Amino acid sequence: MNSVLITGASSGFGEACARKFAAQGLRLVLCARRADRLSALADELSQITEVHSVILDVRDREAVFALPASLPAAFADVGILVNNAGLALGLGGADVASVDDWEAMVDTNIKGVMYLTQAMLPGMVARGGGHVVNIGSVAASWPYPGGNVYGGTKAFVQQFSRNLRADLLGKSIRVSNIEPGMCETEFSVVRFNGDEERAKQVYSGMQPLTGTDIAEIVYWVTALPPHINVNQLEVMPTAQAWGPFAVHRD
Ligand SMILES: NC(=O)c1ccc[n+]([C@@H]2O[C@H](COP(=O)([O-])OP(=O)(O)OC[C@H]3O[C@@H](n4cnc5c(N)ncnc54)[C@H](OP(=O)(O)O)[C@@H]3O)[C@@H](O)[C@H]2O)c1
Repeated sequence: MNSVLITGASSGFGEACARKFAAQGLRLVLCARRADRLSALADELSQITEVHSVILDVRDREAVFALPASLPAAFADVGILVNNAGLALGLGGADVASVDDWEAMVDTNIKGVMYLTQAMLPGMVARGGGHVVNIGSVAASWPYPGGNVYGGTKAFVQQFSRNLRADLLGKSIRVSNIEPGMCETEFSVVRFNGDEERAKQVYSGMQPLTGTDIAEIVYWVTALPPHINVNQLEVMPTAQAWGPFAVHRD
């Protein structure tokens, strides 16, 4: 049985995906930086499936490329890669935003996805099958004030996912890009540098998506018959939609 490798499994979508795939009896490789969170989740899910956890910073190129060879034999055949680890930092305009924050988003959301994908693809190609599920965002297509580099990183994920499909045609490897809108996880707490009050306000008076909602979708695209490839799936809470064009008037 092939395993499911999930990055950013210590909270939010990644944790919810781990729970969903575990409930289906799939073998899991769970990756994140926070060892305490990861080992608590691994201990819990080990009751129902086989779990291997790896402390991994997806920005660490050497560590990512060393990962496939380091996996125990039972977990080595990764059939599903969920490229979920990612973050938004700050909401400042491009003239004032922190360049350190910008680089952290590029390194995590773009380079991390590149590294994990190339590290895992040779095994999938050799086995003649697999599924790469990338977690993009509505921010890939729809700009908002302060979204600047975050939106740019998710536009990369969108276009990279499409190009992967072009590269992998004929190799029986599926690629799906799931693009969520507002979802209450630790995302906004991270964006606002630990300010939980400010993060809570983002979702006040509306019903956001949950990590479990996204995990259902991620699982669903992977469970479809192998001849079906969901290329891109944008999903928002019913309480979210687009605004009109913004027009500045003097
Ligand atoms: N929530 C939303 O509204 C929303 C909407 C659209 C898209 N997304 C995207 O969904 C994905 C998951 O976000 P979430 O909402 O579940 O947020 P979250 O609760 O903050 O989870 C983010 C996960 O990414 C991991 N991570 C961050 N940087 C990492 C790194 N350098 N190396 C390894 N792991 C790293 C974190 O683990 P550690 O800190 O333990 O490493 C954590 O497990 C992200 O790509 C995000 O951009 C979120």
